[in-house]
Amino acid sequence: MDQKEFSSRRKRLMQTMGRGTIAIIPTAPVRVRNRDSEYPYRPDSDFHYLTGFPEPEAVAVFIPGRKEGQYVLFCRERDQHAEIWHGRRAGLRGACETFSADHAYPITELDAVLPELLEHCGRVFYTLGHNAEFDQRVVGWVNRLRQKGRSGVHTPGEFVALDHVLHDMRLFKSKAEIRTMRRAANISALAHVQAMRACRPGLFEYQVEAELLHTFRQHGCVPAYNSIVGGGANSCILHYNENNMPLNDGELLLIDAAAEYEFYASDITRTFPVNGCFSPEQKAIYELVLAAQYAAIEKVKPGNLWSAPHEAAVKVLTYGLVKLGLLKGKPAQLIEDQSYRRFYMHRTGHWLGMDVHDVGEYKFGDHWRALESGMVLTVEPGLYISAGSKGIAKKWWNIGVRIEDDVLVTPTGHEVLSAAAPKSVADIEALMTR
Ligand code: GLY
Ligand code: MN
Ligand code: MN
Repeated sequence: MDQKEFSSRRKRLMQTMGRGTIAIIPTAPVRVRNRDSEYPYRPDSDFHYLTGFPEPEAVAVFIPGRKEGQYVLFCRERDQHAEIWHGRRAGLRGACETFSADHAYPITELDAVLPELLEHCGRVFYTLGHNAEFDQRVVGWVNRLRQKGRSGVHTPGEFVALDHVLHDMRLFKSKAEIRTMRRAANISALAHVQAMRACRPGLFEYQVEAELLHTFRQHGCVPAYNSIVGGGANSCILHYNENNMPLNDGELLLIDAAAEYEFYASDITRTFPVNGCFSPEQKAIYELVLAAQYAAIEKVKPGNLWSAPHEAAVKVLTYGLVKLGLLKGKPAQLIEDQSYRRFYMHRTGHWLGMDVHDVGEYKFGDHWRALESGMVLTVEPGLYISAGSKGIAKKWWNIGVRIEDDVLVTPTGHEVLSAAAPKSVADIEALMTR
């Protein structure tokens, strides 16, 4: 992403904050996996959204209107020895020259410098509750100033939830963000095609997962979340990710896996038969979920409420379940009673962006929010019929189907960013039996 994109985000944030304020945003800490092995480092999304700075141990500070510079970045200093062991660092000069900070301080000076920066600010924009240790430090700096306040130092009077402002910005995607998300979705779609091509009875779930990961890495991506690769009974476990069972002839395989490209996530689910041909029952459930997904996607347009796609999906699913004899009663009543929840126990989507379950409000007060151009959401209805489901004939058991796409709200309707992943029965069967 271009440095200009980050600088225009900072400008917009500071315009909203106004004079006499300060924002403090730490990045994510390095996390230990076991003993001295670390998880691959991923910066905090809010921090990265505003800075593009990829290193750990960094804190961004924004002070609108400050004469000496509005954007202060605390980061690690250059260190030849440390860099030989652990990798390159931008250092203080790089923070200014490459990442456009107005001023950079060593992260080790945070406790000494931040109280000074706070001194003339009435309001502190900060996200409390994410990092208990950092919360303590922020409160400590303010308290230290308050003690000095008796000797005439100006102290901050108000904490403001930074996430409120920032997350509404992140909810609306710019052109550059949409391009990046389109790419993430296209790479993920390629990975699903590759999984369909490779799948056959006798493979283990992890071998199909390997095809997905291979495609992600070939394109410079990492998984946006832990891949779900569940065959047969495992297709009915919503967050299954052991991915260690054999794939059997005659069963379905549900894959919920997608790439993160340049810090932007995609989120795709496809379900297909392990042997490439749907059985009549699998096909009936699959076609029903697909019809529900199309109905839900149709509702994605500016002005419609957030809840509209979910309601459309529930309606199609409930009428279909009654028609197949899997629910008994009047559809309108079954919807009212939420009887469909026996087979469809999650909602139809979520915001998508730098985080797979992205930030942004779904409701204003008690009311669902209206969709607006530039928002990106997933549409992911499903049906899950576990083995042993009471009153359900055995032929339906272990059929778990979810179909999930990434959908951008456009000025006139929507664009399915993940459309390159096949989803009609005909397309899937043609691809798999070729
Ligand atoms: N992959 C997580 C989700 O679909 O919400
Ligand atoms: Mn999702
Ligand atoms: Mn998903």
